[in-house]
Amino acid sequence: MVTVPSHWYNIAADLPIPLPPVRDPDTGPSRIELLTKILPSVLIDQEFSGERWIPIPDEVRRMYEKVGRPTPYRRAENLERALGLKDVHIYYKFEGVLPSGSHKLNTALAQAYYAKQDGAEEVVTETSAGQWGLATSIAAALFGMRCTIFMTRASYRSKPQRRILMQVLGATVHPSPSELTEIGRKLLEQDREHPGSLGIAISEAVEYVLKEPEKRRYLPGSVMEFVLIHQTVIGLEAIEQMPEQPDIVIACVGGGSNFGGFTYPMIGMKLREEGFEKTRFIAVESKAAPKLTSGRYMYDHPDTSGILPLIKMYTLGKDFVPPPIHAAGLRYHGAAPSLSILVKLGIVEAVAYEQEEVMKAAQLFARCEGIIPAPESAHAIKAVIDVARKSSPGTVIAFNLSGHGLLDTDAYSKVLGIQ
Ligand SMILES: Cc1ncc(COP(=O)(O)O)c(C=O)c1O
Repeated sequence: MVTVPSHWYNIAADLPIPLPPVRDPDTGPSRIELLTKILPSVLIDQEFSGERWIPIPDEVRRMYEKVGRPTPYRRAENLERALGLKDVHIYYKFEGVLPSGSHKLNTALAQAYYAKQDGAEEVVTETSAGQWGLATSIAAALFGMRCTIFMTRASYRSKPQRRILMQVLGATVHPSPSELTEIGRKLLEQDREHPGSLGIAISEAVEYVLKEPEKRRYLPGSVMEFVLIHQTVIGLEAIEQMPEQPDIVIACVGGGSNFGGFTYPMIGMKLREEGFEKTRFIAVESKAAPKLTSGRYMYDHPDTSGILPLIKMYTLGKDFVPPPIHAAGLRYHGAAPSLSILVKLGIVEAVAYEQEEVMKAAQLFARCEGIIPAPESAHAIKAVIDVARKSSPGTVIAFNLSGHGLLDTDAYSKVLGIQ
């Protein structure tokens, strides 16, 4: 029987070229120094680590078990039949069974644990649609820590469901911009009803942490390499659970943590020539934020406000504002440095889809397998269906179903016209 892995996997050890270093911009204060003040200290070490295997602390492993890891790995036989496939097998790993409803909890638990080890009492972050905020709230509750979330005002108003769940769990949720920070107060002076943005919410979270740095830590939800490292529990479990090795492996990309978490342990084996030699890896993004298929590979800030250090990645530019699609978790301008390198080297392929075709694929999956996918995960499903239809008999496809869509009725109703 599969168990929770003892170590996370770090692809930095196996990449054909080294990860480009994080950099400070030419002007202004050091962003790298700032990072060391706001993040749990172990995470800074993990971010720059070249070690292939990083031990998962016992307490984090116990928490993984408590929240339902290992998660299931299943075959989508009804979907195969509905597509009329001849001996093409489709498997999926399902992260939606976690209490957060998505994979985000895997890193939230690790980060909250390290924040507590640092002596912090409070974890702080930003959220828009609420997937990351909800995962952080659960992790804080489980480790007995206070939790403060800056939620973009537009989402705070229009998406109350996850906000209410965060509050049920004990988190304090502020509409951003807020009166708590200097940047928030300045923006509110200009516009009392400022809708906010993720960039502004990050700036507020960081400013708030710096007011009491000994008690508070900032937790990022994606893009940083240590976040991808924590998510590798998904792929490591999946490798143990696979009845047959996939020829094609697929996952969606926001900042890259879901994709990296599922695929990197397999890509690592491929790079070390220990397995998956012929496997294709496909990253699926939204046409609304197509950094991998249409972006530039360059140094850019991971946050809109430019307070975090520059990282080398595929990016649409930090000021790019994606159209308001329902898969809010994919509305991000850049992709993690390691994923960007893998795409640049052609080890990972990238495709992009429009939300209408994606939601139709999600509906087909729901009607076949009885699970309502999150709109983000639905991007992977659309790619799976396209690839499966073109595959020859004997092909095995695996994808990560990163979350359920039980709180995404709006997406289904508006895009599919269900009243
Ligand atoms: C369910 C789900 N899947 C995938 C993603 C993509 O995020 P990332 O690529 O950063 O893991 C998100 C982001 O919020 C999400 O909520």
